[in-house]
Amino acid sequence: MRSPDPGRLEALRAAAPEVERQLPQLLREVESSWHSADFLPDFQGEAGMEQLRRLREEAAALDEDTLTVLIGDMITEEALPTYAGWLHRMGGAGDELDSESPWRKWIRGWCAEENRHGEVLNRYLYLCGRVNMKEVEISIQHLIRDGGDTETGTDPFRGFIYTSFQEMATRVSHLNVARRARERGAELLYTVCSRVAGDEHRHARAYTRFISLFLELDPNGVLVAFEDMMRRRIVMPARFLRERGGAQGDAFRKFETVATRAGVYTPWDYVRILESLLEAWRVPGLSGLNEAGRRAQDYLCGLPERLRRVIPRLPAPPADPVPFRWFLPPGAEPAAEVAAG
Ligand SMILES: [Fe+2]
Ligand SMILES: [Fe+2]
Repeated sequence: MRSPDPGRLEALRAAAPEVERQLPQLLREVESSWHSADFLPDFQGEAGMEQLRRLREEAAALDEDTLTVLIGDMITEEALPTYAGWLHRMGGAGDELDSESPWRKWIRGWCAEENRHGEVLNRYLYLCGRVNMKEVEISIQHLIRDGGDTETGTDPFRGFIYTSFQEMATRVSHLNVARRARERGAELLYTVCSRVAGDEHRHARAYTRFISLFLELDPNGVLVAFEDMMRRRIVMPARFLRERGGAQGDAFRKFETVATRAGVYTPWDYVRILESLLEAWRVPGLSGLNEAGRRAQDYLCGLPERLRRVIPRLPAPPADPVPFRWFLPPGAEPAAEVAAG
């Protein structure tokens, strides 16, 4: 397994004391933090069945696009083992950083918090009775097995730029699902997705701070890494999402169509996130850069404007129903496959 290069390891070591100092603000205490059980029916108590009835009643009012995005978001969260392994490789694969390094502590704390995202959304979907859970579980298994190459290698600069971007993207997505849930009277789902989005917001703050620390140590290295990532575009963690019998990524493309037309995550969000990152890292005002750093700065600062010109020319997502196995009645096969076979 490859480790980060020596310069990057040096940056990780140099930034460690500041990360240690900030950890208490970046992670919530386990016992005072929220848990799935705070929101979901409590079957140990007498009110459990009534709480379940209310959950199913509100979920009955959800439209299929909202449910589809919720399922896709949940599956993305449930692929946590993939991201955990990848982050550990970046945080020093072997003995370069010991287990009590603040980077390792952060990664473990982050994993613990992310774990409850998949958990709470999965339980909500299971209890709501609108979803073929076996088909969803097959998609989860496939995604974990397929992995999710973020194209960042073991480079902590690229890796934490990626996670800064992704935490902002997942926040946007969960917030928009929350909004759509509330519009349809699903208050419990609104609350759950808002809490998840709150975690994503805090995580995004953590990762952007890490990059700010790296910027103090090696501004040219960070800018060149950022430029490289944006030139190749930020790939989504669930881009290999598939359904039973499907090819890698085929369900992801359908999911993207639904997320775009539902306004849950669109190319405009991509640009806005890029702009937030440029602002958070004060990229336009960075000075004293070398030639590669200046070139990267120019490219990055001009990118939002270029994307804003391109996006209106992208084709609108189709309005037709997008079929997913996740909604099939138990034991049923999709209509097209029945006809074909
Ligand atoms: Fe999450
Ligand atoms: Fe997250």
